[in-house]
Amino acid sequence: MACCHHYYALAEGNESAFAIDVASITFGHGVLKEAGEHARGLGMTRVALFTDATLATLPYVTDVRSSLATAGIDVAVFDESRVEPTDQSFLAAARFAAEGRFDGYVSVGGGSVMDTCKAANLYATHPAAFLDYVNAPIGAGKPVPGPLKPHIACPTTCGTGSECTGIAIFDLLSMQVKTGIASRHLRPARALIDPATTYSLPRNVVAASGFDILSHALESYTARPYTRRAAPGKPSLRPMSQGANPWSDIGCEAALKLLGQYLERGVNDAADHEARDNLMYAATLAGIAFGNSGVHVPHGMAYSVAGLVRDFRPAGYPEGEPIVPHGMSVVVNAPSVFRFTACACPDRHIAAAGWLGGETRGATEDDAGEVVARQLIAMMKATAIPNGIGGVGYGREDVPALAKGAWAQQRLLTNSPREVTEEGLEDLYLGALAYW
Ligand SMILES: NC(=O)c1ccc[n+]([C@@H]2O[C@H](COP(=O)([O-])OP(=O)(O)OC[C@H]3O[C@@H](n4cnc5c(N)ncnc54)[C@H](O)[C@@H]3O)[C@@H](O)[C@H]2O)c1
Ligand SMILES: [Fe+2]
Repeated sequence: MACCHHYYALAEGNESAFAIDVASITFGHGVLKEAGEHARGLGMTRVALFTDATLATLPYVTDVRSSLATAGIDVAVFDESRVEPTDQSFLAAARFAAEGRFDGYVSVGGGSVMDTCKAANLYATHPAAFLDYVNAPIGAGKPVPGPLKPHIACPTTCGTGSECTGIAIFDLLSMQVKTGIASRHLRPARALIDPATTYSLPRNVVAASGFDILSHALESYTARPYTRRAAPGKPSLRPMSQGANPWSDIGCEAALKLLGQYLERGVNDAADHEARDNLMYAATLAGIAFGNSGVHVPHGMAYSVAGLVRDFRPAGYPEGEPIVPHGMSVVVNAPSVFRFTACACPDRHIAAAGWLGGETRGATEDDAGEVVARQLIAMMKATAIPNGIGGVGYGREDVPALAKGAWAQQRLLTNSPREVTEEGLEDLYLGALAYW
């Protein structure tokens, strides 16, 4: 705990408390068949069930639907959630929700589906102009006025932790940038997490969503400590991205240890159910952690890596439009960023590298950035992640535009343990062009 005492040292006029908001979670094999009873307990009688076109053909939606039907609940299915949603796809989902007059929501899918369901619930429950609730400075950042209808989230990827967070992410097409809506009211009322859903995931989806888990845990663990923010004027102004804190640290450490043990196995062998079960648990732990601390620069930089995509089309994702899947768009920045942030809290960077399975014997504070970057790069290579932002189609000439997009992500950048400037972001992208 020596490092924690130091990291969370109190300072006059600064924040002295942290908040813990946790989703209500049921984790284990077979839990999707319990959806009906949970829904009834939450007072649902007419439910909008959100999924996507691929999942609509897999058995999980059927399990949830029949459980709801057995509980006497009416269900209308929306299977047009877009993989990596946009403002347009959120609005289409919101129209479906508003027209159906539902008293409950269920999502069965990855982060794309769960986030679509959150947005649909939000705009149907508290109608507003689309940009009103979107994070400033891209949107108006207005607070969500009150609770939404209850939402049961059933994740089917081992990654985003969206079932535990009050965040919904989308691509704002007019600005070619990803951003989001963040409010405690967006957090699902219940999460039903069946790790067996991961057995049908393509390897690339496990790799991308697995590195999303890793980045959530590593960014939360190295985030600016909550004690370095100015004290909020009143408790309701305490942000969800409150910074690293002792509660989030517990989930980050546990998740990073599981990833060190199981990420490579879970990506490279779909039959390794032990590995995939543990990746799902790591996603849950990291989701609980970062939902209470916030992520920082690798995620901030990811939103323009994803938003400005030209023609990267990874296997395992729907064919058609180019995308850089979220977890890939984050981890391609990560070694460059952690080389930069290491000096702000070197002991935390070294500890994390060790939990991930890296060699840390004899490492000094000066080595911290290299130690963690080396382990991340080894794991990226072992799971066939693209080689930096160059590997997903960007060159040196794209760096100013990438940095401009990332600079708009102030909610994330201010959570960094070391101050970042717009010029500094250009350096970080240059450092992320290629790693090997
Ligand atoms: N709200 C949050 O807190 C949060 C956090 C991180 C990321 N995100 C967002 O989540 C989105 C990414 O979500 P994701 O990584 O979970 O992937 P995803 O939901 O985009 O799904 C990826 C692909 O996998 C398929 N798929 C999903 N589950 C499957 C299964 N069990 N078997 C076979 N195929 C399956 C989907 O149909 C899709 O083609 C991004 O938009 C990202 O920005 C949100
Ligand atoms: Fe993420």
